[in-house]
Formats: sequence, structure tokens, C-alpha cells
Amino acid sequence: MSELRLAGLEKCYGATVAVAGIDLEVREGEFMTLLGPSGCGKTTTLGLIAGFFPPSAGEIYLKGQPVAGLPPFKRDIGVVFQDYALFPHMSAGENVAFGLRMRNIQTGEIDQRVREALDLVQLSGLAERRPLELSGGQRQRVALARALVIRPAVLLLDEPLSNLDLKLREEMRVEIAGLQRRLGITTVFVTHDQPAEIYERPATRFVAEFIGRMNFFSEANRLIAIRPERARLSAEKTGDFARRGKVGQVLYLGATLEYHLTLDGGERALVEAPNDGNAPRFAAGDAAWFTASRESCYEMPAR
Ligand SMILES: Nc1ncnc2c1ncn2[C@@H]1O[C@H](COP(=O)(O)OP(=O)(O)OP(=O)(O)O)[C@@H](O)[C@H]1O
Ligand SMILES: [Mg+2]
Repeated sequence: MSELRLAGLEKCYGATVAVAGIDLEVREGEFMTLLGPSGCGKTTTLGLIAGFFPPSAGEIYLKGQPVAGLPPFKRDIGVVFQDYALFPHMSAGENVAFGLRMRNIQTGEIDQRVREALDLVQLSGLAERRPLELSGGQRQRVALARALVIRPAVLLLDEPLSNLDLKLREEMRVEIAGLQRRLGITTVFVTHDQPAEIYERPATRFVAEFIGRMNFFSEANRLIAIRPERARLSAEKTGDFARRGKVGQVLYLGATLEYHLTLDGGERALVEAPNDGNAPRFAAGDAAWFTASRESCYEMPAR
């Protein structure tokens, strides 16, 4: 049985369609990532699941039961908001304790669980600080501790790492993934980071272009897609995929060189070549072959 299921979920604000009919199943213990451009409805979807506002149409099921009408604190869901939404007048520790107080947990247990949760996000010494006395990244971690401390069945994370520096972000990402596996919390994670699977194997042209640059070639009734860093320029016809063309603009970017080509058929193509001293150099106006190995070519539907 799925832990969380969305069926035809919609949310409209007047003429604005914020969520346009989502069908989604998340299995128990699964880590589901939602990725999409700004304004596509990610935060609204999480808000609907959490129960902050009602859908315009569709249903949400938790463990097979429809949750329409249930208030947020009766849904067994932990949320980390994009803007944290900490209570400004409460200390970090009190913020983390809030969900436990709402659930009438005993004081002794609350203190212990708050301590554990703050340890988990590496904020042990800062329990007494108020949000305004914390950095953006620290606030984000308080919000994470506040969501985890209630040990929810489903955890909703809305860009929870966006304000952390790179090192901490990577630590937290590993920490969250480990925690999620260890505790088996079903998780829906909204992110702008590029998941490798989608980058390496995009299913559609929209996805391929959303998270990087891509060359597209139509062939019969299929579409071949090749990432610029997986293509090569060569003086001769080599590789499994080869198209002849002419070098246009050449951009020197230090670690890489970017070659903009016009192929014989008039199509544009882009090659990102490593500046490693081995790759042959080309100049604007040179004739050259755009080549790629079979492993670097993805096939996808034309639309
Ligand atoms: N309360 C509201 N009233 C009117 N329109 C809204 C409201 N909340 C969201 N919207 C609109 O709904 C759409 C989806 O918003 P949402 O916040 O879900 O996007 P998002 O995918 O989370 O974007 P981002 O990546 O920028 O956080 C946007 O066009 C937004 O302007
Ligand atoms: Mg958002």
C-alpha cells in the first residue's frame, strides 16, 4: 500500500492554477524528489499534503485513508518550509519542542527529544537562541529538527538546504538521506539541486533542458539527445554518432572550451571540451565533426 497518494490534486487561486492535477504515489519509506521550475506548484503541493489549505479538486490519501478536512497536526506529517517559518519569540529549543507540546508529550521526554534533535542537526549549543540571533543556515537546521522531533510518518522538505554553505549542505544531505533510511520516514523532498539520475537519463526534452544544456537531433521519428560535455570535436569522422559542421563561436572558459557549431543541415550544436591538453583545438571557421559514443546518446520522445 502506498503511504501517500495524490489523486487528481488541483489548487487554483482565482485564475491562477497553482497545481494542475497531480497523480502521485509514494511508497512507505520511499524518498521522492520533486524538481521543477520556480512557480510550478511545488510548495503549494506540499501545503496541500500538510493540510494548510484545501485543494480545489482531487484527494490526498495517507496510508489509504482520505485526509480531507483533517487539520495539519492530525496528519502525522513533519514539514520544513522554504522560509522555515520559525516562531520568532521562541528560542530554538522551544521551537523544536512546540510540536511535542501540541501532542501532549511529557516534559521529561520533550527535553530529551529536543536535545537529540538539536544534536542531530549540529546545533547543540544554541538551544537558547531566538531565530533572529541565528544565521540563515542555523534557522534552517532548527526547522529540520522541529520537523524530525515528532517522528512523523511523512516528512515534507521544501528546499531545506538552500541556505547552507556547500560543505554543510553536503553534510546535511548525507545526514538527511541516512536519517531517512535509518528511521524509514517516507519523504517528499523539493529541490533545485540536480539529481544525477535525471541529469544522466532525462525522460523528456523538458526535463533534459531544465537541468542542463543538451543537443537534440531529430532522426526519423525519434530524438537523439547528447550532453555537450559528452560530445567531442574531431577533424575526422569517428564515434558512433557523427555530424559534420563548421565551428562558429569558441568560448575559452579556463577548464573547458565551448564550441558552438552549425551543422551541415543547419542545426546548431554545442561541444564542451576539456582543456586538458589532449583534445584537439579548433578555431572559428574550421570544419569539424561533432561526434559521440553510443553510451552518450539518449533517445527520447520527440515531444
Ligand atoms: N496564496 C496564493 N495566492 C495566489 N497565487 C498563489 C498563492 N500561492 C501560490 N500562488 C501561485 O501559484 C503558483 C505556484 O506557486 P508555488 O509557491 O507552489 O511554486 P513553487 O514551485 O514552490 O516555486 P519556487 O520554486 O519558486 O518555490 C505560482 O504561480 C504562485 O504565484
Ligand atoms: Mg516553493
